[in-house]
Formats: sequence, C-alpha cells, structure tokens
Amino acid sequence: MKKTKSIMEMIKQKECVVGVIGLGYVGLPLAITLANKGFKVIGYDIDKHKINKLLNSENYINDIKTSDLKTALQNKLFIPINDSNELKQTNIIVVCVPTPLNKKRKPDLTYLKQAAEIVSQNIKKNHVIIFESTTYPGTTEKLLKKIIEKSGLNALDDFFLSFSPERIDPSNKYYNVNNTPKIVGGIDKESTQVTAYFYQSIIDSDVIKVTNTKTAEMAKILENTYRLINIALIFEMSEICNKLKIDIWEVIDAAKTKPYGFQAFYPGPGVGGHCIPIDPIYLSHEMKKHKYKTKLIDISNKIVLNMPNYIVNRIKNITKNHKLNNLKILLIGMSYKKDVDDLRESPSLELFKILQEKKAQVDYYDPYIDSFTFNKKQYKSVAINKIKQYDLVVICVDHSNLNYKYILDNSKLIFDLKNVYQNNKKKVIKL
Ligand SMILES: NC(=O)c1ccc[n+]([C@@H]2O[C@H](COP(=O)([O-])OP(=O)(O)OC[C@H]3O[C@@H](n4cnc5c(N)ncnc54)[C@H](O)[C@@H]3O)[C@@H](O)[C@H]2O)c1
Repeated sequence: MKKTKSIMEMIKQKECVVGVIGLGYVGLPLAITLANKGFKVIGYDIDKHKINKLLNSENYINDIKTSDLKTALQNKLFIPINDSNELKQTNIIVVCVPTPLNKKRKPDLTYLKQAAEIVSQNIKKNHVIIFESTTYPGTTEKLLKKIIEKSGLNALDDFFLSFSPERIDPSNKYYNVNNTPKIVGGIDKESTQVTAYFYQSIIDSDVIKVTNTKTAEMAKILENTYRLINIALIFEMSEICNKLKIDIWEVIDAAKTKPYGFQAFYPGPGVGGHCIPIDPIYLSHEMKKHKYKTKLIDISNKIVLNMPNYIVNRIKNITKNHKLNNLKILLIGMSYKKDVDDLRESPSLELFKILQEKKAQVDYYDPYIDSFTFNKKQYKSVAINKIKQYDLVVICVDHSNLNYKYILDNSKLIFDLKNVYQNNKKKVIKL
C-alpha cells in the first residue's frame, strides 16, 4: 500500500526533496519556482554546459529572473547536478525532457525513455513520479510505467505516477508557471490526489484533476492542435485575401470585435517552437496504429509547412525577380516567435534555407540570435546599420525592442509579414 497521507504531509511541511530531470525552457522555470517556494530541488541535466552555467549563477532562460536563480542557489535550495545517482535522495521527480520529431518527422521518444530509465534506477517506495513532457495519449501508462517498473516496484502498490502537461508560453509577460492552471491525471486516484496536492502547494492557480494519464496527455495535444488548425486557417485566409486584394489584418481586427465565438490568430512565415509544429504529429502518428487518419491535422500541417514557400513566391512577385539570383535580402527576426531566443523549428530559418538554395544573397538580423549553423557554415546576425545595402527587407518576427522607424527609413523595400507598419503603405508590402 502507498502511503498517501504521509507524502502529503511531507509536501505540506516542504520536507520533500524534488528532482527535476531536464533543465530547459520548461524544467528550469519549474525548478526555480519550486526552490523559491521552499522545496529543496535537485536539478539534473545531461548537458554539462548547462549545469556548469547554473553552478556559476549564469541564467540561460529569458523568462527567469537571474536574481531568483541566485537566491535559490544561495539558499542551497536549488542544486544543479550532472550525476543522476543524486536523484536517490528525492521523494518527487518531475520529468521535463524534450519530445521532438526525428529526421523522418516521427515522434522521437529517446529522451523520455532515457529519463524513465533514470527514474527506474533511482526510485524507492512512495516516490511521486510526474511526467510533464508533451506526448501522445497512452505514453505514461503503456510505455513509461513499464520502464519504471523494471526497478521491481509496482506502480499501483508502491509509487505514485502521473502526467501533468506543461503549458508554459515563453516570453508571455503575464502568464507563467505560477498563475497558469495545471492539469493532473494519475494512473490511479491516489496518484492524481498526491500530484494535485503537490502542484497546489506551489502554484497560485487552479489544479484540474482528470480521470487518468491519457486524458491529461490528450488535453495538452488538443490545446496545441487547436492552435495549429486555427493558424493554418488564418494562413489560408491570408492567401485568399491576397488574391482578392483584401487586407487580412483589417479583416481579423474587424472579426475579433465579436464578443463570443471567435478567437484571433494571426498570419506569419509559418509555425515554430517545440510545441505547435510537433505535438499534433505525435497524435497523428499514434492514430495510425489505430488505423485512423487525422484529416484536419494532416491538411493543417501541409498548409503551415508550405508557408515559407508561399512567402518565397510572394518575394519573387514583389521584386519581379523570378530567379532571385543575387537579390540581396535581409530577414528581420530568426527566432520562432517574438521576444524569444529559441530557434527550434523556426519558419524564418526555413525561409533562409529556401532563399539560399535559390541563390539569393540572404542575411538576417535578430538581437536574440547571435549566430546559427546551417550546412556546416556559421551565420551571424548582421549590424542593423547595414540595412541600406539590401534590395528587400522581410519582417519575419515582430520583436518588441526593434527600432521599426529606423528600419522603415533606411530600407528600399519592406515585405511585412507581421503587420508592424499597419497603415504605412509607402514601400511596405503586407502579407
Ligand atoms: N518550450 C516550450 O514552450 C514548452 C511548452 C510546453 C511544453 N513543452 C514540452 O516540455 C518538454 C520539454 O521542452 P523544453 O522546451 O523545456 O525542452 P529543452 O530542450 O529546452 O529542455 C530539455 C532539457 O532536457 C535535457 N535532457 C535531455 N535528455 C535528458 C536526460 N536523459 N536526462 C536529463 N536531462 C535531459 C536537455 O539537455 C535539455 O536541457 C517537451 O516535451 C515540450 O514539448 C515545452
């Protein structure tokens, strides 16, 4: 029998040691939040550079205040480690490792399986194990539970096991770990109860209990599939509006005045990051095993993946240069969305690659991305005062801290994918 009351009492008294596996965009903010709420946190990452940075109080996630990291370290409540054996001293382990796609664009569960192996090597009776990494429904119960049970412990009798999706929105100025409601689904009632109690002790928002782990996994996939499909719809609308010579931005502004039944999504060069281009594919892949074709997800994916190609065709028409040969193009914004330094699945990067393949002379400017490597070559963000050299400037990301007046005054021609210039028609072409 699992000792539900005693673990809840330990959580209440902050006597639990919490392990966080994976200290990236999700794991590090969680670890710092936990430490600053009074829990002792052992943060484990396989990346030694990250651990060394943290040990030197160096912050690598924009959404975390460096002062909060320093406080957690000084109080010895956050202990970054590179040796997974240290996780033996924990009572709760939260897993926040990546769940990307492989080269064939299929779910890559390598990191999640490795993390489950680490858990199985360090678990003891009454441990609370929580997975936060986004994945398809059934992963926790059918795959991860079995790996952990290689320890000899049984999930129903010996430990608590839950899935609780992370819903963090990097660079969001208002919503963070602390004030975003948390969904929790356990493999049994006790697991749901203990996990919900744990999150309720650290966040100032609601904790929503669902029936099981697969419902919690599915809720996260639904959230991001909803976004993918609506973004694909807006991308299609922007192509339609271009053909009909209607301003898509004005259309969205008008439509969103409806006080119910409409949520505004906006066009751009595509979708990026670790969630929207990936999570729905986890579901469509899983559904193939059930002989079900995810029609809306598939067509939406096709539409969003084609967006950089559509932009390139628009560039050919705008510049009346169908070969793009030697055309000097500056992309403004390389990250996958505004005000973040994350390049994962960035549509600007895809645009950069296509333009290069077409032999355009393409450079980029992004204060958040100093450099990146593509085809073994390193590319660096150019100085913005070089802007006059370019035939065309493409605004791919509307970072908040850019001097858009300077960009407008010093560009020959602008293709504005994010509507930063709104009514300024002169030398600005809208998406
Ligand atoms: N980034 C987001 O906005 C976001 C939002 C919600 C949910 N998620 C989900 O959260 C999960 C984590 O995403 P992220 O953006 O934090 O990824 P990330 O790449 O920023 O961080 C993951 C960390 O895990 C580490 N890691 C990988 N394998 C490990 C292992 N075996 N042991 C220990 N550490 C390991 C990596 O070194 C890295 O530091 C993913 O499933 C993602 O879909 C991400």
